[in-house]
Amino acid sequence: MENETLTVVDNRTGREYSLPIVDGAIRAPDLRQIAGPDGEGLVSFDPAYLNTASCRSAITYIDGDAGILRYRGYPIEQVAEQAGFLETAYLILEGELPTEDELQRWTDDVRRHTYVHTNIEEFMAGFRYDAHPMGMLLGAVGALSTFYPDAKHISDPENRYLQRVRLIAKLPTIAAFIFRHNRGLPYVLPRNDLGYIGNYVNMTFEIGGRHEPNPVLQRALEILFILHADHEQNCSTSAVRGVGSSHVDPFSAVSAGIAALYGPLHGGANEAVLNMLDVIGDVKNVPAFVEAVKDGSAGTRLMGFGHRVYKSYDPRATLIKQVADSVFAETGVDPKLKIALELERIALEDDYFVSRKLYPNVDFYSGLIYKAMGYPADYFTVLFALGRLPGWIAQWEEMLNDPEQKIARPRQLYTGSAERPYVPLDRR
Ligand code: SDX
Repeated sequence: MENETLTVVDNRTGREYSLPIVDGAIRAPDLRQIAGPDGEGLVSFDPAYLNTASCRSAITYIDGDAGILRYRGYPIEQVAEQAGFLETAYLILEGELPTEDELQRWTDDVRRHTYVHTNIEEFMAGFRYDAHPMGMLLGAVGALSTFYPDAKHISDPENRYLQRVRLIAKLPTIAAFIFRHNRGLPYVLPRNDLGYIGNYVNMTFEIGGRHEPNPVLQRALEILFILHADHEQNCSTSAVRGVGSSHVDPFSAVSAGIAALYGPLHGGANEAVLNMLDVIGDVKNVPAFVEAVKDGSAGTRLMGFGHRVYKSYDPRATLIKQVADSVFAETGVDPKLKIALELERIALEDDYFVSRKLYPNVDFYSGLIYKAMGYPADYFTVLFALGRLPGWIAQWEEMLNDPEQKIARPRQLYTGSAERPYVPLDRR
């Protein structure tokens, strides 16, 4: 809407200010024209960015109240049902669904880069056998930046494409190596005759040169990767954008995203949900646990519930519940599913959760599926990272190509001491 403005009256001076409203936002720097406490202009204050847009983005659209999620305009329900993961990655990265030739080229490019330097194997041997998988992923991806010094040429689109291919191709290999390292099993090298998901599953589970693929479980894993592929300015994506804004290489920027995803309030929640279900132990303990969460005595939140944006059911959780049915038909139903379903039933009726608009999010059921597939709880967030990788890379490139962006450097409200003279040690 042309010439929409917000008129502000400063009752300290009586002066009026007209702040332009563009795309439903006012620009925080426009506040600087209004005098602040120390003679400088006003700043906006928004810890954790509850109501601050950090960028313009064309990648993912979320309507938190309506429970809508779209990748480049395509509804997540249709993409998850009809697309493959590399096809979805292409859509998120390029902005359009690929033609058959484009998808074939993209798939071939990825297929040719699935190996990692053998030094990575030696690097990973340095981790304890029981090192947390996300700590290993964080270290290994950061280390990749030292194997590809050319990745620093971030202004070169062709170089960025090569690094994008390397990341998408090599993370499953590293993730599989991590799984094998934790079990003291020899690494299984990539097989380029297998598809993206099939190759990853084979590198993870092959024993004695054999692994009978289960197409139902592989498609379920692919759908889970698709559902995690991007989610606008979440914590880990904001970390990738922030670190990437210093113009560091993409491997280092992605390792920042992995670090953020590791946290239990973010990607680590899928692991925390399984641990929570273990603590509850039985359906009969659910009411007491819910009460303990509400009165704060549980020392934890209802993990897998709540979301900063979704104030209704996370559309991904709905789709994941459908995937769960197909997986459990193959693997048998996890007894913990009953606990999860009872937690959901009670929470959706309890005013504590309803009043705070706390619904199951993407992490509530995904862990049960991963566990049924044979992954341990501390590995679930690695699977989240494999899914989220295209989104991190696309958001990183969008940030680099955005003329409004520069190095991320927020302001602060200083609450420390006024000036005071140094006191020598012998007088303290
Ligand atoms: C992901 O941003 C994204 O898009 C993330 C993600 C993605 O795809 O990238 O969707 C993936 O990270 C999903 C979220 C996974 N995390 C969890 O499941 C952990 C449990 N959930 C939360 O801790 C919490 O809901 C957050 C972190 C997800 C959102 O937190 P907010 O928006 O900062 O909300 P808040 O902490 O201010 O909570 C508001 C109120 C508080 O109560 P009061 O202080 O008002 O009394 O709701 C309560 C909170 O205590 N609350 C919960 C709760 N989540 C919020 N109480 C119990 N259990 C919970 N899960």
